[in-house]
Amino acid sequence: FITSDKSPINIPSPPPTLTQDELKRIAAYKAVDYVKSNMVLGLGTGSTAKHAVDRIGELLRQNKLKNIVGIPTSKKTQEQALSLNIPLSDLDSHPVIDLSIDGADEVDPFLNLVKGRGGSLLREKMIEGASKKFVVIVDETKMVEHLGGSKLAVPVEVVPFCWKFTAEKLREVMEGYGCEVKVRLGEEGEVFVTDNGNYIVDMYLEKDMGDLSVVSDEILRLPGVVEHGMFLDMASTVIVAGEFGVEIKNK
Ligand code: 5RP
Repeated sequence: FITSDKSPINIPSPPPTLTQDELKRIAAYKAVDYVKSNMVLGLGTGSTAKHAVDRIGELLRQNKLKNIVGIPTSKKTQEQALSLNIPLSDLDSHPVIDLSIDGADEVDPFLNLVKGRGGSLLREKMIEGASKKFVVIVDETKMVEHLGGSKLAVPVEVVPFCWKFTAEKLREVMEGYGCEVKVRLGEEGEVFVTDNGNYIVDMYLEKDMGDLSVVSDEILRLPGVVEHGMFLDMASTVIVAGEFGVEIKNK
């Protein structure tokens, strides 16, 4: 078969490139497929989870979902859900949650997560830990070889009382992993205060932490530490949206 130089060559046009926010929305909408009427839902925090909450509000408004109770993981999500007329409750009234949907900052190959760069790790961990199913929604940039691997922060929520003391103890415990610690600052350079009135100390790690459960125990043993942002063995499903399409990873 010989083609003539003159014949028009059909070069397929490249697929349109999706923005990161479009990928987040695709993952979020896919997760909302798991939502059924009469469920108690953990509502996540962040720019990816926001799309899921918007979608749940839309389906309620269209009567395609009924009798949903949402448990928000932050004050910000609470405000968003209220603006969408999603009925809300809390863990005291609903200690068992059917399904939580939330974003993540990092996901490792075993579906362990880093969360909390948005500052809501404590409520997220309480609510998502009380969930029968926890669906994580991310774009492909969040996938890492090991937690801390993106070289961005691994957050630790600490009580404000003598937080510098706690931060120094944290640095000592994590020294072997080339850890630097910095207190999280807000937009105007003030110390960032969580919804629970605490501070966040961000850890920046040079090395792989190895056995995460050992590291987790070491951090949680430090007086002054409230919680850390490593969510180990908590995700049931991770939905990853990328230029390749959508991948669903199940535990
Ligand atoms: C907030 C979180 C967020 O889920 C995480 O930071 C991901 O955020 P985004 O969806 O905006 O990338 O843990 O505390």
